[in-house]
Amino acid sequence: MRNLKTLARQTGRAVEQKLRVKDEVRFLKNWIGSPLLTGAVAPSSPQLAALMASLLDGNGSGTVVELGPGTGVVTSAILARGIAPGRLVSIEYSPDFCKLLRGRFPGVHIVQGDAYSLKTTLEPVCSSPLGGIVSSLPLFTRPPAERLQLVNDALDLLAPGAPFIQFSYALVPPVPEDAGDFIIDRSSWVLKNLPPARVWTYRRPVKV
Ligand SMILES: C[S@@+](CC[C@H](N)C(=O)[O-])C[C@H]1O[C@@H](n2cnc3c(N)ncnc32)[C@H](O)[C@@H]1O
Repeated sequence: MRNLKTLARQTGRAVEQKLRVKDEVRFLKNWIGSPLLTGAVAPSSPQLAALMASLLDGNGSGTVVELGPGTGVVTSAILARGIAPGRLVSIEYSPDFCKLLRGRFPGVHIVQGDAYSLKTTLEPVCSSPLGGIVSSLPLFTRPPAERLQLVNDALDLLAPGAPFIQFSYALVPPVPEDAGDFIIDRSSWVLKNLPPARVWTYRRPVKV
């Protein structure tokens, strides 16, 4: 019996490992095809994904929006955080990734579209106020004005106090605090990610 359980565990781990390698290859191919759009050579680590998801309110309400899900490592972490699949909308530009995500996360609304046109892309899909936005977009490949526009559009759609969560590999935030009406929290470095990354959380100051 114990041997059977060990074998099942080992088989499960081997299947997981095979899937991870497949995703890494798929990701690398996408990066070779469009490096600026993909923005990374490998998917984020589960540790980085879990940190991003932990900043969402697991008991909150409102739709949660994910930007740039790729192969779905952050999507999995958001669901593991307790967000029901029906409450999650994920916007991905790559049709290949969208196909993969639809097979992998049947209850999640996967939208093939441009996350930088956030309000237009979300309008037919869900209504605000949103419960949170989790972004893995490679913001540094875009000019500062476009980054600021995205953060402002996101914060306009969010419920008061709800977070816009973004990771980056840089020392500085993708949009600086003095550029707009928001406050930023930053995480410590996640070293179990290649390259190490940190998470920036933007919120509008709550007016009393
Ligand atoms: C750095 S990867 C992150 C993927 C995944 N979330 C992860 O952490 O492993 C960025 C993702 O954003 C997607 N992306 C880039 N620009 C986009 C856009 N304008 N609209 C929607 N998705 C976009 C890319 O196709 C890619 O899947």
